[in-house]
Amino acid sequence: MRRRIVAGNWKMNKTAAEAAALVGELRPLVSDVSNVDVVVCPPFTALAAVAPALVGTNIELGAQNMHWEKSGAYTGEVSAEMLLTLGCRYVILGHSERRQYFHETNSEINKKVKAALAAGLTPILCVGETLEEREDGQTETIVKEHVTGGLLGLSPDQVGKVVIAYEPVWAIGTGKTATPDQAQAVHAFIRNVLKQISNSTIAETVRIQYGGSMKPENAKELMGKPDIDGGLIGGAALKADSFAAIVKAAV
Ligand code: PGA
Repeated sequence: MRRRIVAGNWKMNKTAAEAAALVGELRPLVSDVSNVDVVVCPPFTALAAVAPALVGTNIELGAQNMHWEKSGAYTGEVSAEMLLTLGCRYVILGHSERRQYFHETNSEINKKVKAALAAGLTPILCVGETLEEREDGQTETIVKEHVTGGLLGLSPDQVGKVVIAYEPVWAIGTGKTATPDQAQAVHAFIRNVLKQISNSTIAETVRIQYGGSMKPENAKELMGKPDIDGGLIGGAALKADSFAAIVKAAV
């Protein structure tokens, strides 16, 4: 049985003080949850304020991006070590907004995945098709490219350390959620791709989150599907009670 993982992707929201206040509200609401990994991913500028508020709690810290190099002349970027030493355990990589607005490619994302693993961070690799690609019948092709491209060159053991987030782009921030059956079909497909690039034992251990307008009302049904092992939550993660309700739906 895979341990479920629910992560909040706060995107470019919350100042450091607002972020600390939000985790202050969230802490007591999820403190009795022991069988789900709970992760919050505030913006870089709030990580240092949030980290101390999470010490001794069951909530872990993640970041939303990083660079693949260890250090150097990369103005505006941060390294895996910088995140790790702030207390991060996870890093979201290849989010569709990074792919779309910042033109990140599968090969760059692959370098980031490798650098994160080498540093001891757990990558949450985001994959997913646009509406146009879905309507064009390209969903599996695109998702396979994202998965194989992002995980290229990883050993089976390394594949086993990655979390995948399936996020259909048309469902992100739109209020349109994939139906549980639509999501399950792609999750099962992803697990099959993982089998091809590692082996069936490893593929069975990898957690695959669903993301895209997951909310308290639909979380339980989505996570009730056999290959949906949690959620990557955007909008609903910005309110402590909504995020906590999704965490509880994963219990
Ligand atoms: P959403 O975002 O829950 O607001 O749709 C999910 C995400 O982009 O990770």
